[in-house]
Order: sequence, then C-alpha cells, then structure tokens
Amino acid sequence: MKYRHRYHAGNFADVHKHVTLLMLLEALQRKEKGFLYFETHAGRGTYDLADSAIESRHGIERLADADCAAPPLCRYLALLEQLRRARGSPRLYPGSPWLAASVLRGQDRAVFVESLPEEARALERSIRGVGPARMRVDVGDGFEQLRSSLPPLQGRALTLIDPPYEDTRRDFDRTGAALVDALARFPTGVIAIWYPVKIAAETRRWLDTLARRVTRAMLATEFRLYPADSRVALNGSGMLIINPPYQLDTQLEECLAELYSRLAVGPDGGISVRAIAAP
Ligand SMILES: C[S@@+](CC[C@H](N)C(=O)[O-])C[C@H]1O[C@@H](n2cnc3c(N)ncnc32)[C@H](O)[C@@H]1O
Repeated sequence: MKYRHRYHAGNFADVHKHVTLLMLLEALQRKEKGFLYFETHAGRGTYDLADSAIESRHGIERLADADCAAPPLCRYLALLEQLRRARGSPRLYPGSPWLAASVLRGQDRAVFVESLPEEARALERSIRGVGPARMRVDVGDGFEQLRSSLPPLQGRALTLIDPPYEDTRRDFDRTGAALVDALARFPTGVIAIWYPVKIAAETRRWLDTLARRVTRAMLATEFRLYPADSRVALNGSGMLIINPPYQLDTQLEECLAELYSRLAVGPDGGISVRAIAAP
C-alpha cells in the first residue's frame, strides 16, 4: 500500500518536524532578500485529524489549547489556530507546505513536489490564497526535481526532504545521495532532512556515512518518546540540518525541552541536539 500521510498527521514526529521547520524559515527571514523554499515530499497540505486519531493523540492533541513559553512553539500553535479558524474546522492540522505558505513573504518563492497526483491536487487547493509568496506544486519525483532546481535563481534556499521511509533503506540511500548532489550544486543552501529513529545503530551508521561525505556543518536533533531500539513503530523523530543558521542549536534545545515536557510518555525518551562530524 502507498504511504498516506493523512494516517500519521499531527503525530509527535510531525510536531517535532514542523516546529523545527518554522524555526528554520524564521532564521532565513532575518535577511530581507528572498529565498526559494523547496519541498521534495510535500503531501496534501492540510489534514483531518479524524484520520490520524491514534497517532495525533500522542502529538498535537496534547498541545492544542495549552499555554506555551518558547516563541517557536507559540508561533506553531498560533498557526494551527489560524488554519482552524480560517476553515471553521477544529480538527484540521497543517502540513509543512501550509505552514511554509503562511509565513513566506512576497519576495520568497516555493516549489512543492508530490508524487501522487491526488495528493498534489489537494495540496494546490489547501494552499490557494495562503500568504503572498509565489508557489508551485509539481507532480513528480522530489529527488529528481531537486536536482534541476539548484542552484536557485534567488541565491538562497531552504530545502525540506521528508520521504515516507516505507522502504526505509532505499529512502535513507536516496536521501543521502540527494544531499551530496544538492550540496555539489549549491554548497551554501540550508537543507533539512526528516528521518525516523528506530534502531539506534542504523541511524548512527547513516549519520556517520554522511559525515564522511559532507564537509558542511551539520546538526542533528532527535526527539524520542520511547526507549532506543524498542519495538514500537517509531521510537523517535530526527531532523538533520545542513548549514544550520546561527544559534539554531541553542534555540532548538530550549524549545524542544518545553515540547518534550508536554509530550513525554515515560522516563525513557529524550531530546538531543548535536553537531555531526566525521567519526
Ligand atoms: C511524510 S509525507 C510528507 C509530509 C509533509 N512533508 C508534511 O510534513 O506535511 C511524504 C509524502 O511524499 C510522497 N512521496 C513519496 N515518494 C515520493 C517521491 N519520490 N517524490 C515526491 N513525493 C513522494 C508521499 O505520497 C507523501 O505524500
């Protein structure tokens, strides 16, 4: 069966990914000059949490209506509210393209790639009229399309690579290859890669391999709800950030500590933010 993000929307991994993404977008917007926001695996843009009731119960459902202290978390929750008010539906959840569309400025551009035509059409509908940036939805293979989009005309870019990892090994391999290729075409671009945290040794091997091949600065943030190597489907959520913006590490630590205090389900999870260097 083809992966459908609608059954996972708003889970703890989405929350971790989307809060981190908003921090990256805000960091790029510290400069007036516009940039290209590129998503290789975009999904449908907005989701009905009725389809992901079990997973979102351990994610966004534990945060909605809660107070927040860390500014990135407050902004994320405010955007969630904005979407729900605009559409008159308290069960909607914003995917990464909708979040990006709502904060991009007139001078920024966005390209969203999605392989399933039906999801791409839903995405077009969900971001229509959202924000002032010019945006395009392409149906196709996100890894391939990324190759032809770099270097960006704008001279600045943030890329999110968020594959389904249905075939986990293949997506890890393709993601690594896409990263190396993207940096060869555009070494200063900021790239964020979401990855599943399941078996710790496998994740370490993948990160070590990338560290040997990539010479740019890399930061890995992981958000684990379950003990390392436990047999739940997903122990944790990882975001690897290449060319991380200044002070992102400290901001992530503060924000994720608050997020973790809200979402923890037991004593064995945890968060980490660490630089990745060649072993
Ligand atoms: C994890 S979901 C994306 C979620 C989205 N980034 C978000 O956070 O809201 C992955 C999406 O990639 C799509 N997909 C799978 N293989 C793809 C490929 N090779 N190129 C582009 N999209 C692909 C799937 O149909 C699915 O909608």
